[in-house]
Parts: sequence; C-alpha cells; structure tokens
Amino acid sequence: MDMKQSLAQLIHEAIEDCYAGVDSLPSVEDIAGFLEIPPEKEMGDYAFPCFKLSRALHMGPPQIASTLASAISEPDLCEAKQQGGYLNFFFNRGNFAEQTLGVVLEAGENYGAGEEGNGKTICLDFSSINIAKRFHIGHLSTTMMGQSLRRIFQFLGYKTVAINYLGDWGTQFGKMLCAYKLWGNKEEVQNDGVDALTRLYVKFHEEAEKDPSLEDEGRRWFKAIEDGNEEALTLFSWFKELTLRDASRVYDMLGITFDSYNGEAFFNDKMDRVISELKEKELLTISDGASIVDLDEEESGMPPCLILKKDGATLYSTRDIAAALWRKDEYNFDKCLYIVAYQQDLHFRQWFKVVEKMGYEWSKDLVHVSFGMISYEGASLSTRKGHVVYLEDLLKGAKEKALKIIEEKSPDLENKEQVAAQVGIGAVIYADLQNNRIKDIDFNWDRVLSFDGETGPYVQYTHARCSSVLRKAEGTEAAEADFAALEDDFAQELLRQLSRFPQIVREAALRYEPSIITRAVTELCKAYNKFYYENRILDAPAGVRQARLELTKAVKQTIKTGLYLIGMEAPERM
Ligand code: ARG
Repeated sequence: MDMKQSLAQLIHEAIEDCYAGVDSLPSVEDIAGFLEIPPEKEMGDYAFPCFKLSRALHMGPPQIASTLASAISEPDLCEAKQQGGYLNFFFNRGNFAEQTLGVVLEAGENYGAGEEGNGKTICLDFSSINIAKRFHIGHLSTTMMGQSLRRIFQFLGYKTVAINYLGDWGTQFGKMLCAYKLWGNKEEVQNDGVDALTRLYVKFHEEAEKDPSLEDEGRRWFKAIEDGNEEALTLFSWFKELTLRDASRVYDMLGITFDSYNGEAFFNDKMDRVISELKEKELLTISDGASIVDLDEEESGMPPCLILKKDGATLYSTRDIAAALWRKDEYNFDKCLYIVAYQQDLHFRQWFKVVEKMGYEWSKDLVHVSFGMISYEGASLSTRKGHVVYLEDLLKGAKEKALKIIEEKSPDLENKEQVAAQVGIGAVIYADLQNNRIKDIDFNWDRVLSFDGETGPYVQYTHARCSSVLRKAEGTEAAEADFAALEDDFAQELLRQLSRFPQIVREAALRYEPSIITRAVTELCKAYNKFYYENRILDAPAGVRQARLELTKAVKQTIKTGLYLIGMEAPERM
C-alpha cells in the first residue's frame, strides 16, 4: 500500500470515530481523491481539505481539522496538524522512505506500469514516410514521438498497433516511372536506392521544362498504376521496397518496428465506400466540378473538405477517411493517434469533421498529436536551399561524435562502439522529446551532446553512476537497512520524486506528451546527483549504507524505465 492510501485509511478511521452516526461520510476512495499535495513543503506532504466535510457535518473546516488532528495519532506514519481549514500531514520520514522503497523495489521493472489499458487498443499512425524520398529530419519527431507513445501505452496495458502509413500515392510516382523507363538503369537503382530515384525525378523535371509532353507521359504512367497495369505495379512496388530498405537502416538503429505498412495506395480500392456513404448521407456537394463536403465555415471556421477532384481523382483527405473507416473495422481501436506536424492541423480537423458528419460517434477518438518544427543548427529545413539533413547521417554523426567524447572521457571502456551508439542516438532522442510537443526545436550538436545540463548524456551518465555505486557495493555484506538514514532533505526529495513516477507516466499518456517523462527523469537525475554529493554511500555504517544503496537501486531502476519509455537505452557504464 502506498502512503496516500495509508493516509486515506487513517483519515477515514478518524472521521468514523469522531462523527459516528453522521450520514453521507466519504469513503476511503473519496478521501484519497480529496488528498492534495501542497504547493509548499512547509505545508506538509499531503493536505486534506476539510471543507469537503462541512456540508455533511454542518461545521466550519477549521473546527473539523482541529478535531481530526487531535484524533489522529500514528507517529510511525505521520504527524497531523491543523492549519486553517486544512489537515496537513507530515510524513514520518523514515517510514516514508521504507514504504516508498518497498513499493518501487518490489515492482522492479514494472514500477509505474498498469493494467488500465487491458482490453483496449490504440492505433498509432507515425513516421509515415514517403516513397522515393530519403528519410530526413523532418520525420524525426513523428518517429521518436510515435515510438515513445507506443511504449507508454503498452506499459499501461494497452494493445498498440504501430502503423507506418506510407506516402505511396500521387502523380509524382507516374513521373518517376516515366523517368525510369526513359533513362533508368536497373543496377544503379538497385544499388543506390532512393538516391537514384531522386536523381531520376530531378532529371524528369529538367527535361520536362524543355519538352512539356513529358508531363502527359508522366500522367499516363500514373494512370497505369491506378488501373493496376502489371508493369507499372511491379516497378512501383520495387521502388517501395528500395525506400523501405533504406528506411529500415534508420529503424534498426532506433529499434523501431511496425505492425502495418498499409499506406495510401493500400486504400486505393477502398474509396468507393467513402464516396457512396457520403452520397447516401447527402453530405457530398459539387463545387466547380469537384466533390466537397461543406463544413459550415461560419461555425467551424473551416473551408470545405475536398473529396474528389474534377477529374474524379481522390485526395489525401479521401484516403485518410477510407483508412480510418478501415482501421476501425480492422482493429476496433479505442483511440487512433496521428502523430504528424502541426502544418497538417487543418487537414486533420477537416476530415475528422467529415467522419463526425457521417455519423460515426468514434470520430471523437481520432486524435491529431501535433508537434512543432525542427531546425538544424539554426537553419530551417528546406530542400530548395539544400539544407536537407538525412536522419541516417544525423544518427551516424551522433554516434561518431559520442565515440570521440567517450574516447576522451573513458578510454578504457570495453564496448565503446556500442555505448557510443546508445549515447549518440539517445542524445538525439532526448533533444527531440525534451520540450512540449508544440515547441519548435533547434538541433544543436554542442548542446545535445553535452554531459552537463539537461541532455541525454547527462541522464544516461547518472544511470551509469548508480550502476557503478551498486557494482562497487557488490560483495559488501548485506545489512538491515536503517531507513532513518534517509531523513535528510536530499533523500526525501528523491523519494518524493520516485513516489510520483506512476502519476507522471499517466499524465504523459493522457496528454500524449513524452516530454513529461523526459523532464521527470531529468529532475530525478538532478536530485540523485545532489544526494550523491551530499552523502557518503559505500563507506557509511552498514545499516545506513544499505538504506542508501536501496535508494540508489530504486533510482537506477526508475531512470531506466523512464528512458525506455522515451525510447532511449540505459548503458551500465559510460
Ligand atoms: N506521409 C505524410 C507526410 O510525410 C504523413 C502522413 C501522416 N498520416 C496520415 N494518416 N495522414 O507528410
């Protein structure tokens, strides 16, 4: 049982004793729900607002607080004081330490996990790369954030479906086929993959400027894909394969896998359902030859959602609607998350609204998890200006830079390469998931790889420090822990943070915000480092040492879990 629960029980007993016979007294659960963590430490560890009882008791809160304060006498657990209309509780610090560490260490790797998601399914549409394009850092956030959210929800017992909704539909693919047929070289494309395809695409545009008839040729090839022409499809699925081959190098480095790669093209033959349902429900209107769904602009502030172009071609929205209907049938999700940059905000709001107008009550379960822009060393990303930074190069660069630092700092480390990958890639993930989603990020190497301040290496280093303390303690004789040794402010702050961790994980899930975990883990590390500098551990008396080691173990384990939840590794040594 945790401290809050024990307190609620204690308060409940006191109320029953003092006010026996009164109707509608709160239950233990009610009381647990009323308990607050006060804003100031001087106000105790928990506060019970007595006005919650005024109604039932017909008494002022201060009077109730003072009656209850004198009724509660459990010095091993806490001290209860009346302060105004509040009953403030000051934990017995030793007991708080014992209870908290008991809970954390018993749960082990599962500390903070839960079962509230059992039986529920969450679809996560993330990373969703585009065919024949290199994976660049514009797709960094969706990839990291999707992976982190997936782990967070799994940790809470949800079934998750990770979907890479490939961008594999559009007229540009007709142009690419056309270019390949005219100038392509099989071997070159096979070897260079996406780079060769990009070169072909660029050439197509150069040539089309001189010879506009090429555009028609490109359209013809796109039509061939649409119509299921065998040659076109074979070539196109080869292009897809090559793109995924390149992307999987990045996914491997990050340890990411997907449950589905059903992209836009997969839904090509599933559009009729959308169109006929929209017609049936009288939602489709013709405007300038195109089919649209009116979204009551005055009220919603949104222009109509385009469903079919003049020539009958479907759009990005049409395909997203078809995909959502299909996913609901296939997975019966409780939530479907779209982890996509805020630039697509209107797109999602529009087609979510269309699904709502179609009468699907589950449209409320479609969530656009949006995030800000990323720039690199102060320069915004733009293909035209040549500032494209490929994710693979970024991650490799991170590893190399980390290796240099490690070679300086710990030349004797055994598995330097492996640790360098963990630290370098971890640094990138940390930087990406450090701030609120919506904040724009500027990626700066010096800051990201620094061992001081709020960085990935700093957090990983603290984990390695805990590991090192525990390693050195191996072989010393185990003793009964003296929890009174954890009464100092530094240890208490650590314990307070440890006890909050399950709440942190839930908040991150509720708000689809991995940064809540990143920040909590960082705070935990800062608190541990303060504790570490203030207290002797290994050469303290046996009982004291044991208590501090148990605290260290609980911290190490919680840092590791937190890092796992944001997608980072936790090296034992670095
Ligand atoms: N491929 C798109 C892009 O790179 C992102 C797709 C997001 N998912 C979706 N269901 N629309 O911009």
